[in-house]
Amino acid sequence: MTVRPILIHPDPRLKKRCEPVREITDELRAAAEDMLETMYDAPGVGLAGPQVGLMQRILVMDCVKDPEAAPRPLVLVNPEVTWSSEATNVHEEGCLSIPEQYADVTRPAEVEVRWLGLDGKDHSERFGGLWATCVQHEIDHLDGKLFIDYLTPLKRQLITRKMVKLKREKARL
Ligand code: NI
Repeated sequence: MTVRPILIHPDPRLKKRCEPVREITDELRAAAEDMLETMYDAPGVGLAGPQVGLMQRILVMDCVKDPEAAPRPLVLVNPEVTWSSEATNVHEEGCLSIPEQYADVTRPAEVEVRWLGLDGKDHSERFGGLWATCVQHEIDHLDGKLFIDYLTPLKRQLITRKMVKLKREKARL
């Protein structure tokens, strides 16, 4: 397992819609393992393919917050929201591609998601709480959408400018 570099916004790859996965290959399985490793290392609760330059519809997540509890790594291939609750939830979101920036985002409080597992089988689950926020945030990534796209243009520009500066500083090191 390898920790892969995480792309930082702005990057054209983070704005692109990803291709559906056609086949579960060993290469994809290895990429999923790397993505989980990268996510835990960051640390974060979710990571989507494009964030490591993998332009396919795959995401990983684990929203178990209690360090005493068993981890629950999930790999979702070609995930689709099949149902959303009318009730919404406001959650302060962040993103590994937009480090140290947080903002409130309103989303459906619960969603039902269908996906293909690495076992080649169809899975479906209803997510609530942080899991619901996370899975929607990560699916957005697969459509080239970032959480800052939900903010006002002014706030979005402010964060983007900070990221440009951060990337410039990093490049100088
Ligand atoms: Ni993100």
